[in-house]
This record gives sequence, C-alpha cells and structure tokens, in this order.
Amino acid sequence: MYKIAVIGGDGTGPEVMAEGVKVLKAACQAEKISIELVNYDIGGERYLRTGEVLPESIIPELKKFNAIYLGAIGHPQVKPGILEKGILLKLRFELDQYINLRPIKLYPGVETPIKDKTPEHIDYVVVRENTGGIYTGLGGISMKGTPHEIAVQEMVYNRFQVERCLRYAFNLTKKRAKKNTLALCGKTNVLTFVYDLWERAFHEIGAEFPGIKRDYYHVDATCMWMIKNPEWFDVIVTGNLFGDIITDLGAITQGGMGIAAGGNINPEGVSMFEPIGGSAPKYTGQNVVNPLACIMAGSMLLETLGEIRAASRIEQAVQKTISGHMKSMSAGKMGTGTREIGDLAAKYAG
Ligand code: IPM
Ligand code: MN
Repeated sequence: MYKIAVIGGDGTGPEVMAEGVKVLKAACQAEKISIELVNYDIGGERYLRTGEVLPESIIPELKKFNAIYLGAIGHPQVKPGILEKGILLKLRFELDQYINLRPIKLYPGVETPIKDKTPEHIDYVVVRENTGGIYTGLGGISMKGTPHEIAVQEMVYNRFQVERCLRYAFNLTKKRAKKNTLALCGKTNVLTFVYDLWERAFHEIGAEFPGIKRDYYHVDATCMWMIKNPEWFDVIVTGNLFGDIITDLGAITQGGMGIAAGGNINPEGVSMFEPIGGSAPKYTGQNVVNPLACIMAGSMLLETLGEIRAASRIEQAVQKTISGHMKSMSAGKMGTGTREIGDLAAKYAG
C-alpha cells in the first residue's frame, strides 16, 4: 500500500492533476497495487485567502508519504518568487530532493521543431542538481533604490552536494545501458571555482565507473548541440541553474511543455513528481491544456517506487493516446480536450 500526497496547486495544475490521478489509479488497479491519495490545498489561492504560503506542519506530514504528486505552483496575482520559493523550492530543499530528473524523449507522432530529427535522435535524460547552486538564495541587496545599489546572488556548491549528484548520474547512466555516456554541462571557462569543483569531482568519481564514457560541454555549447546533434546525448549532469535552463530547451525539442515531466528525487527519502511546465493560468478551466506531462510524471512516480510494470503501462498508454488521437502537444491545438485525453490514457493504462 502506497500513500501518495497530491498537490494540485495553481492555475491548470488541478486540471492536469485530475487526469494524472485518473491514469495513475487505472494503472495501479490493473497491476493490483493499492494506493491511498491524500489531497493538500497548497498554492496561490490558499495564500491569497489565508496569507499562508506553506504551513509548517506540512513538511513533517509529507515525510510520511511514499511520494508526492504535484500539479503546478505559480499565481498571476502573487508577486513572482513568493510561491516559487515558499512552496516549490522549499519542498525540494526541506525534503532534500537533491536530484531533478528530467527525461527529454521524443515520442513517435510528436512534432519536434528540430528539422530532420526523429524519436531515435531525441532520447536522453538531464540530471539537474536540485538543492544548491544559485538557488541556495545566499546574497542580498544594499543601497536599494539608489544609483549605487548592489545586488549579489551567489552560486554555492560544496563537494558533498556535487558528489552525490554526480554519483547518481553515473549510476543512472549505467542503469540505462544505452550509450554509456555521461556529459557534464558546466562553464569552466568563466565559473572557474564552481565548475572546477564539478569537473574535478566528475573525473574522480568517473574513475569508479570505467564503463562510462565522460564528455564535457560548456552550457552555451550544450544548448547548441541539444538542437544540432541531440543524438549525442545519453545522460547530462549539471548544476541547478543550468539544469533549469537547458531543460526548457530540451522540453521544446520533445514537443513542448505539454509532454515534459520531471521528478524531484531524494533517493533515500520522499520524492515529488511534476509536469515541468508551470501553472499556465491563461488556460485555466478551459479543458484545453495538455495533461500528458502530468500523466508522465505519474509514470516516473511509479518507476521510482519500483513499480516498473505499472510505470510502463502509463508510458505505453501515453504513446497510444498520442498516436491515435492527438494533433499537437500544445494547449488548444491538441484536437481533443484535457479530460478526453485523460480518459483515453486511463482506458489504455487499465
Ligand atoms: C522549474 C521551475 C522552477 C525552477 C521555478 C518555478 C522556481 O522553473 O521547476 O523548472 O526554477 O526550478
Ligand atoms: Mn524551469
């Protein structure tokens, strides 16, 4: 019996989550896995109503679950940063979800904006470090509002954070057993402290994995090659900020935010799965947003729990839904509605 915390969140989050839950339940029922879902009302609406961002009691409660399933956080009436830092980043940090796992996979029948690239060219995973770097939040502002104002935001990493992330990435590359290649994405030509640490640790830990080839790319070049030669990649490992940026680029190459899922993973604790696209408030309540990213996040959730068969049921159901029924991955252009896609995927997963 698995206990799963469900946070629909803001904007279209609850809509895609309703479909994600539908499909998750169907796959679990088919595999005779029992799950208990507990809903949490967290997000912008609650904040506007009560002034509460994330009630303190919630973190210890969430630690008792087997996984967390999250829709989206972000509200147009709330100043940027309050909910993102107060909820999403806080959960990632407090639950020590030190890996953000973001597969970039082009499914058959999905259109990519990259000319001449097909599913065989786009199938890799980004391992984004998820608790450190510039997201640590160290820094400050002085002389605010004056012409001499100073703003500092530090990119902070310690060896421990870098090492555990790299080790996870090497092990994942080994487990995938595809190209057996791990690429470090950095910026050793400018960030000569932080990415020097990453690069040294990369080669030192890499020596423990003789079967894994090591590549290095600067982050700007990584962006170029993700478009020009995505087939070079197997697993990319990188720091928090670069990982954030390159996974939006990656998402667009796999058909867009409507299909891109991710997992905030604590391999020793509670992990949290989400569509990476955000709350898309302008589409709220119209039944036009694509639930597949959220549905795929459910597949990643089950895979992380070790329920491989149920996870691949969902992935196959998503592929059938795409090839049989969808014109596009983009909101409003899918040729069918949010709920209808959820119904189809649930039917195929069941
Ligand atoms: C993501 C998002 C978040 C991030 C924001 C909403 C804080 O862009 O999950 O990629 O920067 O990590
Ligand atoms: Mn992002």
